[in-house]
Amino acid sequence: MSLSGKLVLNYIIIILIVLGVLILFTGITLWLIIPSAGKGHVVSTFLGLKKHSWKDIHRYTALCLVKYLPLIHVALNYKWILHTTKRLFKK
Ligand code: HEM
Repeated sequence: MSLSGKLVLNYIIIILIVLGVLILFTGITLWLIIPSAGKGHVVSTFLGLKKHSWKDIHRYTALCLVKYLPLIHVALNYKWILHTTKRLFKK
């Protein structure tokens, strides 16, 4: 693999790791630390953030991983998709 190919792959891996860690951390926070915040006896903030903020981070990082990254991937490869689909239906 060329040097620029390795750099691009490295960037992608870093983005995936950062998103994965954020999703896991915020997911575990919502699941175990503030599952029912605001209902009297349980903590309503964790690390200075309220439950809805943790939910926002969880939701947006999850959206990046399952929606925006795949959309960018398809946008970058739409020529390949068109070409391959045409070839498939020609036969
Ligand atoms: C790729 C992996 C994941 C995706 C795409 C994902 C996505 C989501 C989404 C869209 C919600 C709804 C948030 C909202 O109400 O706006 C949610 C809620 C939640 N997620 Fe995840 N999640 C992932 C991984 C995890 C993991 C690993 C955990 C825990 C270890 C977790 C724990 C939770 C909990 C506890 C809620 C409920 C929060 C609440 O309403 O009280 N998630 N997740």
